[in-house]
Amino acid sequence: MSVSFVVSTWRQRLARSLHLSRSKPESKYIQLATLNDAGQVQNRTLVFRGFVDDSDHLLMVTDTRSDKFSALQVHSQAEICWYFVKTREQYRLNGTIDIYFEPSDFRTSIWNRLSEAAKAQFYWYLEDCEKNGLILNDKIPDTFCVLLLKPQHIDYLLLAEQHERFNYQLIDSKWIETSINP
Ligand SMILES: Cc1cc2nc3c(=O)[nH]c(=O)nc-3n(C[C@H](O)[C@H](O)[C@H](O)COP(=O)(O)O)c2cc1C
Repeated sequence: MSVSFVVSTWRQRLARSLHLSRSKPESKYIQLATLNDAGQVQNRTLVFRGFVDDSDHLLMVTDTRSDKFSALQVHSQAEICWYFVKTREQYRLNGTIDIYFEPSDFRTSIWNRLSEAAKAQFYWYLEDCEKNGLILNDKIPDTFCVLLLKPQHIDYLLLAEQHERFNYQLIDSKWIETSINP
């Protein structure tokens, strides 16, 4: 086992994985696991919406009526599992999630980045006339919520002929990389 201090090597790996799979929209689908208030695990598919600027924090969006919204208010701990079919790499990103559901410039900036199709998903429960009015004015629905995963521990697995596995741990604001032989 070898240990070294690095600045977010996992982030560089992930950027490379995303780049190599850029022609595949499904490469942005991630599985997010949370704990409900009874301590039971729940997971579901979400779309990865990018990083916040140059940080290690991952963006997702959801609806305040979803189970994950209530779950995260009680337990902020969460894990994303992400598999890249083309490069046969798995990332497991474990950390805490901050939720942004009250009006703020940050929430607005994420809303403004969404495609029309993604925005429309937040209007499905409205009557047509109300929906059209909101879409025309690009009004942000009250149920729109931004999720920000702040990873603290990452497990990376490459399923090539020679398996490669690395752990990354955030300690005192520094990422520590550990190579693991499976
Ligand atoms: C391909 C795909 C992408 C999805 N993307 C999102 C997403 O970005 N945000 C979201 O809230 N739900 C998304 N969903 C729906 C969730 O998987 C889930 O069904 C929904 O959010 C309710 O989950 P919950 O009640 O467990 O929180 C997606 C589903 C699929 C199949």
